[in-house]
Amino acid sequence: MNIAVYPGSFDPITNGHLDIIRRASRLYDKVVVGVLTNTSKRPMFEKSQRVDFIKRSTADLGNVEVAFFEGLLVDFLRKENAKVIIKGLRATSDFEYEFQMALVNKQLCPEVETVFLSSSEKFTYLSSSVVREIGRLGGDVSMFVPSEILGDVNRAMHGE
Ligand code: PNS
Repeated sequence: MNIAVYPGSFDPITNGHLDIIRRASRLYDKVVVGVLTNTSKRPMFEKSQRVDFIKRSTADLGNVEVAFFEGLLVDFLRKENAKVIIKGLRATSDFEYEFQMALVNKQLCPEVETVFLSSSEKFTYLSSSVVREIGRLGGDVSMFVPSEILGDVNRAMHGE
């Protein structure tokens, strides 16, 4: 079975993430969305809530699983029996950092490949931090996050 891991903070999941998950789910037998708390960022949403948001947004995709992980990404891949890391690239500005991570992960675990999917044109501007900023300032995030979680995101961000 060809298993891929799509890692990230997903704080919260955006329509851009969902697009990458959907497309990866057509390329691999199974996609495991690996959710972690980035040690350099303080999350807006609890890890259990971030996992729940992704599960609800991907409920129609039979070969997608969601799990929380800590520690090295390559160790999580070993645990999940996966050989592929999926990353979405929005613009060339993402490339340098992602390329470095791909090389580090290759050093740590040579049998792992990082596969980059280019983000769909309509999502190139989108990131979780943009969603958090708009939400914090009282803006409408309905076109940026999956409809399944919009109510909860709005409630968490401005008590609606
Ligand atoms: O959504 P994010 O916060 O940009 O995702 C970053 C992520 C999860 C891909 C990255 O922080 C990661 O892989 N962390 C796991 C720790 C690790 O394996 N580090 C060594 C590789 S550089």
